[in-house]
Amino acid sequence: MKTKILQALRQNQDTYVSGQELCEKFGVSRTAVWKAIKQLKEAGYEITAVQNRGYRLVAVPDILSESEIASRLRTKWLGHNVRYLEEVDSTNAEAKRIAESAGSMDWHGTVVVADKQTAGRGRRGRTWSSPCGTGLFFSILIKPQIDPGNASMLTLVKGMATAKGIAEVTGMQPQIKWPNDVVLNGKKIVGILTEMSAQIDYVNHIVVGTGINVHQSEFPEEIAKTATSLKLEMQLQGREEQITRAQLLGAVLSHFERYYEIFLKTQDLSALMEEYNGMLANCGRSVRVLDPLGEYEGTALGIDDRGELLVEREGGISKVSSGEVSVRGIYGYI
Ligand code: BTN
Repeated sequence: MKTKILQALRQNQDTYVSGQELCEKFGVSRTAVWKAIKQLKEAGYEITAVQNRGYRLVAVPDILSESEIASRLRTKWLGHNVRYLEEVDSTNAEAKRIAESAGSMDWHGTVVVADKQTAGRGRRGRTWSSPCGTGLFFSILIKPQIDPGNASMLTLVKGMATAKGIAEVTGMQPQIKWPNDVVLNGKKIVGILTEMSAQIDYVNHIVVGTGINVHQSEFPEEIAKTATSLKLEMQLQGREEQITRAQLLGAVLSHFERYYEIFLKTQDLSALMEEYNGMLANCGRSVRVLDPLGEYEGTALGIDDRGELLVEREGGISKVSSGEVSVRGIYGYI
């Protein structure tokens, strides 16, 4: 009930919604509406109540809770099962535990969200700093019927969806640093870690974890030159408005669901690569490919339908696969 009332108040944020209207709309008693409003106020929503006019949502703080997230969902199936935790070691680890302990429960499409991670995991064994109230940390748990060899492309799908969601909510235009870092003004704003449990020809589960820097005002020294947050980037544009993480999550999930369904049809990026390349920050740039078999430099041309980066170098075009090597900009992070 809380979720439905929240949605109704948000849709009419400029006006009052009468208690009677809410009762009729949701088929509940006055007391049930009053109780739900009381719970929302206790959770931090600023709601004014005026006799003979009704209720009005005055301010929406950046609250993360199951009902706030549910009220922001626009998806057909993704995230309809949300697990919100104030604190967890890692949302990726929690999603994995759900998949491994849920027995026959239908966990496909579950989303795990946390306000704080005590052991946030990054790529290549690194950590992901995740203090409370700073970022959006979440993991999508899915069980696609795909060849495990195609799973790494989901990371690129997630990069696109995240960039799109950020653009939708902030009006800024993030780009992608191949394969899946989302960047704004050349600095990293999103990290994605995809983990899979599979047999040779069968996926048990895939966890796509995403960390978005939202409210940070500063970063640890070692990443200060290459990391940024939505807040810092908006401040650079002279904008002070508050980003709500649940709204951002709702937008990212809806883009992911759409791109994921397109990806599933062909199990490759043939229908998405043009759009991906349009977002690619490295496109046309000089890059250094850190290949364990020998580093080289070239010009990034874009991805192919398998998500490999095409790099033009002396003697031809090389295909770089994300699992094996990383790519650095020659003149900076990109
Ligand atoms: C990277 O190194 O760029 C990837 C960082 C991924 C961080 C996210 S935060 C939510 C999810 N849970 C984790 O432990 N890691 C991912």
